[in-house]
Amino acid sequence: MTAQEVEPFGRTADGKDVGLYTLANANGVVVKITNYGGILTHLFVPDREGNLADVVLGYDSLDDYLRDSPYFGAIVGRYGNRIARGRFVLDGVEYTLAANNGANHLHGGLKGFDKVVWTAEPFATDDAAGLRLTYVSADGEEGYPGQLSVTVTYALTNDNELRIDYRAETDKPTVVNLTHHSYFNLAGHDSGDILEHELALAASRFTPVDPGLIPTGELRSTVSTPMDFGKATAIGARIDEADEQLRFGGGYDHNFVLDEYDGSLRIAAQVYEPTSGRVMEIYTTEPGIQFYSGNFLDGSNVGKGGAPYDHRAGFCLETQHFPDSPNKPQFPSTVLRPGERFESTTVYRFSVR
Ligand code: GLA
Repeated sequence: MTAQEVEPFGRTADGKDVGLYTLANANGVVVKITNYGGILTHLFVPDREGNLADVVLGYDSLDDYLRDSPYFGAIVGRYGNRIARGRFVLDGVEYTLAANNGANHLHGGLKGFDKVVWTAEPFATDDAAGLRLTYVSADGEEGYPGQLSVTVTYALTNDNELRIDYRAETDKPTVVNLTHHSYFNLAGHDSGDILEHELALAASRFTPVDPGLIPTGELRSTVSTPMDFGKATAIGARIDEADEQLRFGGGYDHNFVLDEYDGSLRIAAQVYEPTSGRVMEIYTTEPGIQFYSGNFLDGSNVGKGGAPYDHRAGFCLETQHFPDSPNKPQFPSTVLRPGERFESTTVYRFSVR
């Protein structure tokens, strides 16, 4: 059986009360989500001995999230990752977005979906406990055209899967690229760096970037480069190699082009942590996945239980359309038009080896 409960989590600066929702499954897996930013704050999964650990970075209090968070556990939108110079042209009209990352637009702008209060509705089915989050983004919010109605559904199943379904509809042509920004450390959120985790990606190409981390437009083979995760490889094995792409990212901060993309739910990544035996597989309907090795973490974000999140204390695997697609006609389109429905699903599946 699955269970849910809700407790108060605090109040935003503009006086909105937010809650912390707990989902639990039959195997002891526990997930906590707040409707502020749709943030996944906790995720307890068993190791090979059955011991639970919290495998996502995050904070104990809402105030910490309000003060400063590098998108810990958040829903990211309207557009995950970067749009060059915060500009794009759609149907002959140029739109201007905030430049909140140097000259570029990042993760939806100054107040993206990670910083808004969502309407939350817990639910249960025979096999899952879930939380349905809805948000209506006004026409022009953060510079994006169209009123966008968004539903993000988290569901925890008895197969130890955390499934996220994203849906959106618009009343004017717009661009959408929704993702989830958990930082994982499968040894436990407070257990040091993630360099020994072994990563495999179902991607034989990636989108190389310029020094501002904007894709050049090329789809480049990973073969014979430190970007090759075709076979499971420790994240730290090549991260310090003298490689221009690693230098631009300060480590891995790249979009990988998933092989055989057809919009169906397919395996994108597998991560194995040798000391605990924990395995996380990621399945997605999206064409890309951003692998970010936590390069900007520097200990200044003090997390749950006082854990200082030092350099590379967590990694992100953000399923997505490619960065800067609104300015790259050769990339899969992120345009959403009235009458169409944006649909995207990502599943995180936990097991042990
Ligand atoms: C994404 C970006 C990174 C960084 C993190 C959050 O992964 O690609 O450059 O912004 O989010 O710090």
